[in-house]
Amino acid sequence: MKFFVDTADTAEIADLAATGLLDGVTTNPSLIAKSGRDFMEVTKEICALVDGPVSAEVIALDHPTMMKEAEVLRKIADNVCIKVPLTVDGLKTCKALTDDGAMVNVTLCFSANQALLAAKAGASFISPFVGRHDDNGFDGLDLLRDIRLIYDNYNFETEILAASIRHPIHVLESARIGADVATMPPAVIRALFKHVLTDKGIEGFLADWAKTGQTILK
Ligand code: G3P
Repeated sequence: MKFFVDTADTAEIADLAATGLLDGVTTNPSLIAKSGRDFMEVTKEICALVDGPVSAEVIALDHPTMMKEAEVLRKIADNVCIKVPLTVDGLKTCKALTDDGAMVNVTLCFSANQALLAAKAGASFISPFVGRHDDNGFDGLDLLRDIRLIYDNYNFETEILAASIRHPIHVLESARIGADVATMPPAVIRALFKHVLTDKGIEGFLADWAKTGQTILK
């Protein structure tokens, strides 16, 4: 399972990239606004921090303008992945861009039928919003299960990118279901490393080691 971080905070991205476990980055207009940075400038910086895909979202709602915006975004770096909303115009744009060799992430997916359309449009990634689905009284993980089943039925190559992940159990369940990628806020990625018994075990081992009076490094 690939791990993407869902943020436009370059310090967080650099820190997580240093673990060697970060496979990509997703951003959206809300995360860009939160960063307070210039969209083009921060996206370029992020693309240099990771080798994997960096999703940058178009703002236009009509196909011709989406294509123009995508043309600008594609020039930022080779690892830019154009993010388009799951609308008729978004999928028209997805089809045109993927036919032209671009990576495309189709976002704001809330139904398995939408995911089926995105796969038919050649999307590189489909982003079902697990947490927002839960927030509205639906089961976000059931949505992932349905998409996995449908994509496997037809051998679609579109990768399932579990988005709007709120906590480690979402990550665990997404991995059980077989999502190809999870994009998570930095705090959720950090939480995956933690276990109270790991901390307690280290404390005990260090206390016993101190009694030996030895060092490994001479
Ligand atoms: O990047 C899209 C998605 O991950 C947003 O998550 O928490 O704002 O629903 P959230």
